[in-house]
Amino acid sequence: MSGAPDQYGVFGHPVGHSLSPFIHGLFARDTGQQMSYRAYDVSAPDFVARARAFFAAGGRGLNITLPHKLAAVGLAHQLSERATRAAAVNTLARHGDEIRGDNTDGVGLVRDLRDNLHFVISGRRILILGAGGATRGVLGPLLELAPAALAIANRTVERAAALAADFAACGASEGLGFAQVGKVAFDLIINATSASLSGEIPPLPKEAIGPHTVCYDLAYGRSATAFVTWARSCGCARAVSGLGMLVEQAAESFYLWRGVRPQTAHVLAALRERAGASAEGASSVSSRS
Ligand code: ATR
Repeated sequence: MSGAPDQYGVFGHPVGHSLSPFIHGLFARDTGQQMSYRAYDVSAPDFVARARAFFAAGGRGLNITLPHKLAAVGLAHQLSERATRAAAVNTLARHGDEIRGDNTDGVGLVRDLRDNLHFVISGRRILILGAGGATRGVLGPLLELAPAALAIANRTVERAAALAADFAACGASEGLGFAQVGKVAFDLIINATSASLSGEIPPLPKEAIGPHTVCYDLAYGRSATAFVTWARSCGCARAVSGLGMLVEQAAESFYLWRGVRPQTAHVLAALRERAGASAEGASSVSSRS
């Protein structure tokens, strides 16, 4: 074997907090892949030129995180069905002269729920909080697994209703305001609002959470997010952050790039260990990168 390793990375802004280089470094080591992966801090006005330059210089693949997931849609020559549905790209891969865009966020969430948390989506009552880009990214893969009911609650009801209508072909869902959520506890509540990023909690009635409810925050931090702490105080069965989703969406990106599916359980354990070790530090909260 000779030559420089294949180049990969993540484009975001800010990106200094990104755990992706650590995760992909472990995946590459474990699977014996000759590749490098680094974080690039790229501002919004520079995104298209920097991404084109990365690929023109031989780069093989990029993860795309905030605030570039929409801009990356326009950069790709070809989009996967799940990226088209999500209207966002978190993975770019170069195949010859062509750049393909995909979105692994939804499958990452579904795999974390199924494989790491052993939660069965089919036939269960699910509530998603928020109707922005994060919800759009995970709605298709959740609906495909045929939950008994899927409600989307949002401060701005019209956004939730529009999202439910957009995804009608994938399965039935209902857009609501928080006041209309009702008093019957859900099996799974997913916080896809950006409230955690500012330490806020969505205005969800406590009755939505019962002793069997699993609560999942798409955001993650060094310590429990505000939503996870609040859900636990409401007596839910289990409340977790999106660290598992982060690892699983990374594994799917890695598979798209290298054709090899890495093991994830020990990578997630290593991240939890790191988070535990630094739990006394600042409790910054991130979305996926
Ligand atoms: P993202 O791409 O992270 O989803 P977004 O598209 O800006 O970001 O959407 C943010 C979502 O979080 C929206 O659903 C927003 O509600 P509105 O549509 O009513 O604005 C929701 N959100 C943000 N802060 C919130 C808060 N403090 N409480 C409840 N919902 C909040």
